[in-house]
Amino acid sequence: MISIKDPNRDIIERCYELMRQSKGIYRHPTFLSDYNYKVDWITTTKKELEIKDKVITTLLSPLKNEKVNTLLLSGGHGVGKTFFSLQAASIAKEFFSCEGRDYHYCRVNCHSNNTYHRIFREIARELGFGDVWSSEQTLAKLREKIAGEEHFNVILDEAEMVVPGGRNKKTIDHVLADLYELNLEEGGSIVLTCISNDLDFSERLSTKTLNKYNPIYIVVDPPNMKTLDDILRYRMERAFINPQIMQDESYELVKAYTAREGYNVKYALNLISKAADECMNSKSATITPEHVRKAREMMGSYSFDSIVWNQLNDQDRIVLYSIAYVVRHGSGYQKFSNLPASRVFTGEVYDVYCKACKKSDVDALSLRRFGDRLKKIGSLGLAHLSSSGEGIRGNTTVIELMVDCNEVIRVLGNSTSG
Ligand SMILES: Nc1ncnc2c1ncn2[C@@H]1O[C@H](COP(=O)(O)OP(=O)(O)OP(=O)(O)O)[C@@H](O)[C@H]1O
Ligand SMILES: [Mg+2]
Repeated sequence: MISIKDPNRDIIERCYELMRQSKGIYRHPTFLSDYNYKVDWITTTKKELEIKDKVITTLLSPLKNEKVNTLLLSGGHGVGKTFFSLQAASIAKEFFSCEGRDYHYCRVNCHSNNTYHRIFREIARELGFGDVWSSEQTLAKLREKIAGEEHFNVILDEAEMVVPGGRNKKTIDHVLADLYELNLEEGGSIVLTCISNDLDFSERLSTKTLNKYNPIYIVVDPPNMKTLDDILRYRMERAFINPQIMQDESYELVKAYTAREGYNVKYALNLISKAADECMNSKSATITPEHVRKAREMMGSYSFDSIVWNQLNDQDRIVLYSIAYVVRHGSGYQKFSNLPASRVFTGEVYDVYCKACKKSDVDALSLRRFGDRLKKIGSLGLAHLSSSGEGIRGNTTVIELMVDCNEVIRVLGNSTSG
């Protein structure tokens, strides 16, 4: 039998081989960097679009002479909070420049600038005021600029890292209050974006400050599988000379591991990058599942424990445990509905939760506040929440556990006597 070969295909393969020999497998490796914010902003769901719209509209409020608000953005690790804020700020800048207005934005990493004074010094440096500036000088300069019709978006990233500092032990509350005060006096030109990994960040702020500036709360949920897939394909197409270097099976593994890490995009990019290094070291023509597994081993496995102990509070843990318990023991309503075993109804989980609280001698939350805890667990990628539609229990929330129920019970079993 004569095999028909596409001659173009051969030429393309030979070209890839030549480039591979001269440059390795990469075209632009920076596309696999988790700090690359100069990429397209990918949105696939209605909810993502709504959030995008809300953030950009808030940034544009000074243009419409509307009240200027503070944005409080929170969400799990690597879900795109920093990227999101920077993209929104750069879109706002374009709008302002179309209107002939001066617009500046800056991002202060509060991890490395973790006190009141360091934050203002960094704002001055980022906005090009000069190098060593005191907070008073920075505020005075901002006031002068606002008077000159300039507009600002100050992004305070990783805001939960700020500690009381200086003689007066000033905190993040003081940073927000002083910038807010400036806005009040000067008619509002600074939009503040405060980013935190702590989904309960607002609880760290004083109620006095919160009541005063009444911020807009936005939770950045982890991307769903479709968005994650689009982000990763976009990056691989640009990073590799030949994106086909990633075997289909290996790519499925990358996505599966990332799902277990709460859909952390940074994790996915690092995993691909390390698997690609493995592929180069072993002089293989493609990235195999074995390369991905090796990369995962190098990165340290499963961060579920760390999410549970670092990002969940006691109440959250009991809620998570209750979901796992209902999943493991089977939903009582399963036989009346078409739900797969990993999906359970909120009401059932709430019943188990109340019993678990009683056993642990903890006050059970109301159903509404229990719902807030569920949302937090959803935002960390540990569960997926959806509406059941009209059914046996009316319209209720269906919870799908995204991690193995036995894993949850193993990790939380001793601390929760549910
Ligand atoms: N919607 C998106 N479209 C394109 N790229 C995205 C999107 N969301 C996230 N990314 C990419 O994911 C990576 C991680 O995003 P980012 O650094 O903003 O996460 P984060 O939530 O701030 O993480 P951390 O909590 O660790 O600070 C970045 O490289 C970013 O480009
Ligand atoms: Mg960040």
